[in-house]
Amino acid sequence: MSRKRILTGDRPTGKLHLGHYVGSLANRVRLQDEYECFFIIADLHTLTTKPEKEHIEALRQNIMDVTLDYLSAGIDPQKSVIYLQSAVHAVYEMNLFFEMLVTLPRVSRLPSIKDMARAANISDDAVPLGLVGYPVLQAADILMPRAHLVPVGKDNEAHVEITREIARRFNYLYGEVFPIPDVMVGEVPSLVGTDGQAKMSKSLGNAIFLSDDAKTVRKKVFGMYTDPNRISADVPGRVEGNPVFIYHDAFNPNKAEVEDLKDRYRQGKVGDVEVKEKLATALNNFLEPFRERRAYYEAQNGLVERVLYEGTQRATKEADETLSLMKKAMGFTGIWNRISRKGREAIERAEKQSADQPAAE
Ligand code: TRP
Repeated sequence: MSRKRILTGDRPTGKLHLGHYVGSLANRVRLQDEYECFFIIADLHTLTTKPEKEHIEALRQNIMDVTLDYLSAGIDPQKSVIYLQSAVHAVYEMNLFFEMLVTLPRVSRLPSIKDMARAANISDDAVPLGLVGYPVLQAADILMPRAHLVPVGKDNEAHVEITREIARRFNYLYGEVFPIPDVMVGEVPSLVGTDGQAKMSKSLGNAIFLSDDAKTVRKKVFGMYTDPNRISADVPGRVEGNPVFIYHDAFNPNKAEVEDLKDRYRQGKVGDVEVKEKLATALNNFLEPFRERRAYYEAQNGLVERVLYEGTQRATKEADETLSLMKKAMGFTGIWNRISRKGREAIERAEKQSADQPAAE
């Protein structure tokens, strides 16, 4: 019996951080044995807000960074496929078919599209068609390997819902080709930034990266926002919503230590320094295996490229298969087969005729 499939991934916009890890990467690593996994580096999606050549040039490094982040987080290329979206041509074709199965108002209403436009400084009347189509292209990604499960961050939940609608509509119109994929959001669906802002994000400058070294992690932790009302260590502090404790909960496996710190914090019996010192240690312990794997992959020339190359070949095979199932179900294969057969027969007849009647001298 074959395993169910996962498809998920990221746009290569830069290095991945702890928010990516708790939102989705942790689930991916955990489910690698249970599911057949496809991880997409979604470079085409970056064109929706950044089509300029300079941004495409930046993809080269970003693709390598994200792939290395995956490998360092524990995605095992012996088990899972990591591939480059733009190199899998069948997905461009799927995208076109799926565009016919969703309405413009449905995708235009999505807050995520508006958020992305705002973040990229795009005004309402300058939104590219492709940005509105972002979730449709994502649906093509997800349906490409006929995935059953999509582990993503909270901000991508609505896109998986669109994917489900498209898959249902396709199946209804043309016959059962796709499973209806489920979404899975991580334990911490959205991680606060080190500055206390709602979301950790590279562009907000409040991220701890998976690739940060121990010194950098420590420095960032000591710069972290805590309870602003707590001006000295003997003032009772708030634990709820306090980024330092949110991180302790998410990354410190020593629950007894965390509970003890929380108790003393609430009573005003512990200084920020101790809380942060223990968090820095916990985070660095957590990231140490990442650093070891990163060093291993980095040490071998071309290894990361090889992972992407082989993964993309595997994904291409899968995508071609799905596209062929789709075209058969839709009836295009039948139409084209008949045209090409009769066309070839006509060519053969004409060739035979000219061979039978050589031109007069
Ligand atoms: N939308 C994802 C992001 O925010 C990237 C992505 C593209 C994706 N295609 C996908 C995620 C398919 C999950 C499944 O970066």
